[in-house]
Amino acid sequence: MGSNRSNPRIVLARRPQGRPQPSDFTFLDDGALAPEDGQVVVVVDHLGIDAFIRTTLEEESFHQGAQIGGVIPALGVGQVVESRFDGLAVGDWVFGPLCSQTFATMPGFMMRRLDTSVVPPRAWLGALGLTTGLTAYVGLTEVGHVSAGQSVVVSAAAGAVGSVAGQIARLLGASPVIGIAGGPEKCHFLIDELGYDAAIDYRNDDMEARLRELLPDGVDVFFDNVGGDVLDAVLMNIHRGSRIVICGAISQYDDMKNVRGPRNYLKLAERQAVMEGFAVFHFEHAYAAAEAQLTQWLDHGDLVMPEHVETGIESFPRALDILMSGGHRGKLLVKVAH
Ligand SMILES: NC(=O)c1ccc[n+]([C@@H]2O[C@H](COP(=O)([O-])OP(=O)(O)OC[C@H]3O[C@@H](n4cnc5c(N)ncnc54)[C@H](OP(=O)(O)O)[C@@H]3O)[C@@H](O)[C@H]2O)c1
Repeated sequence: MGSNRSNPRIVLARRPQGRPQPSDFTFLDDGALAPEDGQVVVVVDHLGIDAFIRTTLEEESFHQGAQIGGVIPALGVGQVVESRFDGLAVGDWVFGPLCSQTFATMPGFMMRRLDTSVVPPRAWLGALGLTTGLTAYVGLTEVGHVSAGQSVVVSAAAGAVGSVAGQIARLLGASPVIGIAGGPEKCHFLIDELGYDAAIDYRNDDMEARLRELLPDGVDVFFDNVGGDVLDAVLMNIHRGSRIVICGAISQYDDMKNVRGPRNYLKLAERQAVMEGFAVFHFEHAYAAAEAQLTQWLDHGDLVMPEHVETGIESFPRALDILMSGGHRGKLLVKVAH
């Protein structure tokens, strides 16, 4: 049953072939659903534009996929405007899978109530976000086992996960911390704003040669968000015992049926190195400690989370294009509620 709230939203019109196009999405403005027992209605404040969203547009996807005619999966924060769930009241700030819409009518148990007294709600999409700050933290600590004095290389270093990963590596005492990103401006941004010790421009530099120059003994830990040519270049610069953390492979997400594996993987055998992938939701045991540490760093000004904000739910498809083409720095968000 509908309510009298209009609900501007973006739905999937057809599955993209390659890079998503505006015509793959449709803007609709129809009513929000009235809540049933156990449900809440949330007005969406911000949506996080995450790389995983691209993978949900496929027929088969690791994360729960988008349906043709349905809203697009996305994590968001918002405020409860109606509640038929005992654990949440009108006015509560929540985090959850709110999707590409203005009002989300969902079971209350799927929402996490937020304490917004120290950081603003959208911090749970960025520095404290499951798919951003927590991903960077558990990837570096639980999988990369980064320790003081080690060299760390991060790819997609100016994006959301990468921005936080570089700073966390530095805060853990890693040195040098080297970022790989696209274009000279982003490379300046890595050094000037995020505190990276050095930057490599994968679009213009000879990555292998630059890595050899910066790390003649090879990299200790590589936190990889990109895959493809970037991963191959780093594999040529590992040493005995290097750890390669596979966080993601965004260079492959526009063509998931033809994912290209690393050409240089035999370097792992030659150099007794380890490559290990992870998904953040396997590390629930580590969330509380990670969140406490990240909150402290944020509070003390040791950690910053640059943001790029697009406005209006109608900007959702454009925001996804910005994400895939790297037109943002830090966390990419869509501000939904006006
Ligand atoms: N394992 C987990 O649990 C987990 C959780 C969350 C996210 N992730 C992964 O983390 C990675 C980053 O995700 P995010 O949401 O934070 O996105 P993001 O880094 O904010 O945005 C993606 C970035 O990737 C770069 N990029 C795009 N295509 C590229 C290509 N062909 N070669 C090199 N760089 C390319 C772009 O930067 P440039 O301008 O530098 O090209 C862009 O800024 C993704 O791989 C994602 O799947 C994993």
